[in-house]
Amino acid sequence: MANNSQKTSKIIKPAVILCRIVVGLTFLFSGFVKGVDPVGVAIKLKEYFVALGIDFLSPSSPLGSDFVATFSLTAAVALSLFEFVLGFAILFGSYRKLAPTLALITMLVMTPLTLYLAIENPVHDCGCFGEAVVLSNWQTFYKNLVLTAASIFLLLYNHKAVALYAKQMRSVPTLFSAIFLLSISVVSYMYQPILDFRPYKSGTNIREAMQQSDAQPEYIFIYEKDGEEREFAIDEIPMNDTLWRFVDRIERLPEGVKINETLDFYIYDNDTEISEDILMDENYSFMVLVPSIKDYDNSWDDKILSLYDYAFEHSYNFFVLTPESEEFSVRMNEMGISLPCYTMDETVIETIARGNPAIAMMKDGILYWKIAARDLIDITNYNTDIEGTPLAKIEEYNVNRRYIILATIYILPLIFLYLCQKAVAHFVEKARVRRRKLFATKRRESKTSCETEQQNITTNITEDSDNTNYKPKNFKTMRKNIVAGNWKMNKTLQEGVELAKGVETALNERTPNCDVIIGTPFIHLATIAATVDTKKLGVSAENCADKVSGAYTGEVSAAMVASTGAEYVILGHSERRAYYGETAEILKEKVLLALANNLKVIFCIGEVLEEREAGKEFEVVKAQIEESLFNLTAEDWNKIILAYEPVWAIGTGKTATAEQAQEMHAFIRKTVAEKYGEEVAEATSILYGGSCKPSNAKELFANKDVDGGLIGGASLDVEQFMGIVDAF
Ligand code: 13P
Repeated sequence: MANNSQKTSKIIKPAVILCRIVVGLTFLFSGFVKGVDPVGVAIKLKEYFVALGIDFLSPSSPLGSDFVATFSLTAAVALSLFEFVLGFAILFGSYRKLAPTLALITMLVMTPLTLYLAIENPVHDCGCFGEAVVLSNWQTFYKNLVLTAASIFLLLYNHKAVALYAKQMRSVPTLFSAIFLLSISVVSYMYQPILDFRPYKSGTNIREAMQQSDAQPEYIFIYEKDGEEREFAIDEIPMNDTLWRFVDRIERLPEGVKINETLDFYIYDNDTEISEDILMDENYSFMVLVPSIKDYDNSWDDKILSLYDYAFEHSYNFFVLTPESEEFSVRMNEMGISLPCYTMDETVIETIARGNPAIAMMKDGILYWKIAARDLIDITNYNTDIEGTPLAKIEEYNVNRRYIILATIYILPLIFLYLCQKAVAHFVEKARVRRRKLFATKRRESKTSCETEQQNITTNITEDSDNTNYKPKNFKTMRKNIVAGNWKMNKTLQEGVELAKGVETALNERTPNCDVIIGTPFIHLATIAATVDTKKLGVSAENCADKVSGAYTGEVSAAMVASTGAEYVILGHSERRAYYGETAEILKEKVLLALANNLKVIFCIGEVLEEREAGKEFEVVKAQIEESLFNLTAEDWNKIILAYEPVWAIGTGKTATAEQAQEMHAFIRKTVAEKYGEEVAEATSILYGGSCKPSNAKELFANKDVDGGLIGGASLDVEQFMGIVDAF
């Protein structure tokens, strides 16, 4: 069975990574290509609003076209940002529950919508990848089915693979991803899209492309005979052979012509089409592109007019292209300017260049460059012929180089952040080891007998009669913070192994500020101790016998526990005291045997409700410590971890308040100090147990004498347990 579950996890982990790559990269790419052209996405969204009959966002919206334009642009940026950041989170395993949940919600909305688009076909391509990759509506629907399935899988199993960035620092690369995407959106909005996926790239020979897109598709007929399908041109159809059965007719464009290269570069002077004349013209043509007069930004008119003067002086063509050519002419005439204005479709103008107005230059059918008007160079610097000026140069557009530059700008900081994380983890671990070594040396140097140390108490302890005011010299510097799980009698072997692996995986993603231990039933111990890296995740038994060995049916000795590779044993738990009659004397024996077998002891103490109500809690706890532990030498005490577990708080949901916990922990430390000296007391980790959860752990652990927790119920769930670990 254990083997089976290992095999399953061997399959699941690579499957998780594969799903992360598929879903993550798809979202990342989808967000990126949208972010590169927010105006294009806004145009697409407007198409959607019309197609889906959303009246208040249609061009005739009562809210006004300004509102629709602003809404569409904001939605375009928000959509690309959401997709990109979500893609990052999924790809690198950050926010392992939230990210697949959001992806699944997105897919549950998008998949039915794309099914509707595929059936009804109100828009011919969905625009999921902007204009970078054009998918048919059915292709989009199938893609969404795959993404939905992968998102469900991730939702179930994402925790099986580690995240690249630790929980404590994942917000940094997430924020960086958001800033990166917003920056490219702003640059693309202010200037032109950094990556141009449209058919009007600088350098395009529009005349040739038009000729291609005018090419008529060829009809291909598919016939079938004896199970074999064959394609026939129209004049090859096997009319005489009746065994051929007609199957389908398809359209195919001539070789070399791609459907998405279709251009609609049609220009009209009143009702006369003049596109051909303009495309054939070997002279330079400056084109002012005005997609809408209403939103026309006239702040750049001076620049445009000096360009016009320059063109006029050197006999270059200069004209305005707008869907509202007549109105524009009238407006110009009112200002005393006479410019040739021709008509062109609004979407085509917006597709050629972003900006209102934008300027483009063409010669001999080739689009040389296009810019938003604000970026027009000051033409007054060029009183010469256009040749030799930047205006006569075809703008260089190398898509691969731009991809590489953008990918580098994005990926290098991510790698840097990852290396920083590794370096910090390395130094923290080193510092921790150094601190422990230092302390061990100090302990060895100051090793004296209990009696001598007891004498020191009077001189060492700065003590108050109030228990909460015990004042350590080096608060929390000498002892370890520990979060230990006590699974009690829960989990089958297979479930336990899964849980332990889950905890280990989660630990690998963080640099915890505490030691982490899991206390498991005997049945799990050997397998788990052999499975996990016990240097990172300590393993503890929940009990051991008070006898060395022999005829004690059902018992497990300390030596047996140690032989599994477990390093700790929990002793004195209130449940063992109450249900199995473990007395202080029995526990004393168990502790000695555990220590003799080199096990560290997590020793539980705590009062029941009646004792607290009677005001006897300090007395009870002190007696529990004294009766089972104070026979130990100071050296032995090195291996004792105390766990204060008020019995009334165990499994009841009733936690001791932070003040109650601190008061008792300070009292316990003082009690230890009185016996073994301040230094020993200072080095003793005292854990709190009893309904400790991620929600209250921080407050409890913030107390100076609370060095961690012994966790019952919440240790049975990786997320909850890690929530408590993260409280440090
Ligand atoms: P709960 O955290 O479930 O209250 O249990 C505490 C406990 O008994 C740990 O040993």
